[in-house]
Amino acid sequence: DLADIGVTGLATMGRNLARNLARHGYAVAVHNRSASRTRDLVKEFGGEGTFLAAEELADFVASLKRPRRAIIMVKAGAGTDAVIDQLAELMEPGDMIVDGGNAHFADTRRREAALREKGIHFVGTGISGGEEGALNGPSIMPGGSKESWEALGPILQDISAKVDGVPCAVHVGPDGAGHFVKMVHNGIEYSDMQLIAESYDLLRQALGATPAELAEVFREWNQGDLGSYLIEITAEVLDQVDAATGKPFVDVVVDQAEQKGTGRWTVQSALDLGVPVTGIAEAVFARALSGHPEQRAAAAGLEGPKLSGVGGRELVEDVRQALYASKIVAYAQGFDQMAAASKEYGWDLELGAMATIWRGGCIIRAKFLDRIRAAYDADPALPTLLADPTFAGALNLAQDAWRRVVTTAVQIGVPTPGFSSALAYYDGLRRDRLPAALVQGLRDYFGAHTYLRVDREGAFHTDWSGDRSEHSA
Ligand code: 6PG
Repeated sequence: DLADIGVTGLATMGRNLARNLARHGYAVAVHNRSASRTRDLVKEFGGEGTFLAAEELADFVASLKRPRRAIIMVKAGAGTDAVIDQLAELMEPGDMIVDGGNAHFADTRRREAALREKGIHFVGTGISGGEEGALNGPSIMPGGSKESWEALGPILQDISAKVDGVPCAVHVGPDGAGHFVKMVHNGIEYSDMQLIAESYDLLRQALGATPAELAEVFREWNQGDLGSYLIEITAEVLDQVDAATGKPFVDVVVDQAEQKGTGRWTVQSALDLGVPVTGIAEAVFARALSGHPEQRAAAAGLEGPKLSGVGGRELVEDVRQALYASKIVAYAQGFDQMAAASKEYGWDLELGAMATIWRGGCIIRAKFLDRIRAAYDADPALPTLLADPTFAGALNLAQDAWRRVVTTAVQIGVPTPGFSSALAYYDGLRRDRLPAALVQGLRDYFGAHTYLRVDREGAFHTDWSGDRSEHSA
């Protein structure tokens, strides 16, 4: 008998995805470059369903039903190209190659175009949820042709997470759309974590609260508007005590945050698209700052404010509000970026559907995404999430607390780039007049770059070095 689908690359994510497929009744061809992993999988989990183990890639491909459906689960990078080439050699027009790694969407666009020439469908798909999600139901973000979605969609929806019975898998759009959306998901993941980290840091410094006490705070927050996977596991991590030293776990971990690159990619793409994703950018930069121990050591002697402990319990609620408001801003920016990319690349992304598939399975899963979906349901052409009546109301409710939090942080010298920049974005976007007018004036002064007027059509230039009269440009 032939397999319904295949998985090549059986590290944790690939293995768990293969098991998830098998548990759902699909016959799964499995292959790994070193065959021991394939054997281990079948030995340990063979009882969970039907696995067709192949030692050679050619046997793997030969064991697939037509049109063939093969999922690649290897570490993103040059290795992916090699596997794609080998698979494509063995496949026929109409077959489908799915890349489930965290590939850059530009690579996915290139690969999709190259395989399309050969009649092979290339599906770059985001898969979020870590090991656990891959096994029990991830959020799945596939890009690619409509035909490939017809053949793969039912399987992907079957193995995905479900929220209120709705699968967290949808056809995102053509070529690189799926990997783009996964990239923005990760950027938002960075920003969520940064805001959580700032909340923890500020409360710990200002109130002298212990990690265990703060775990309780996060546990409580998880019951309300902030309810989400990341808030939930923050409580778990803060509660952890190091067995070797008896200290809070968070105090024995080196304070340098690493990154594999998807957050940085999000910001790079946002710069190209001209979308201010300040929340994500600050999160990427905060990780980068943490990762320069030599600079941090050199700066450690710099003076901070005299003030340290300030405020009482009311700061906890203020920080909760600041976190929520900043989160709304970060998501609004991420969704703006998807909208801009959709336009730029002709993807026709449905933003509400992206919120829907992020409600479950993925790292940023949260109650909050239901509200985003509702906002786009009410107005699919919403210019910014901040203008949605529900979010506008929430921001208005939170803004006094948000300002107090940023003020406190500045006073006691706790860096809160996420909170501060989100507030600056909010204040910038809502202003009727921005000092960009002065910037335009300066550009015209030194470079004759011209400006528009509020009261007349056309571009203008002032003769700054002459009689300062204005001319149509
Ligand atoms: C997911 C995650 C995952 C990502 C990690 C690590 O959606 O399951 O986003 O894909 O690899 O979050 O990312 P960094 O190493 O860049 O923090």
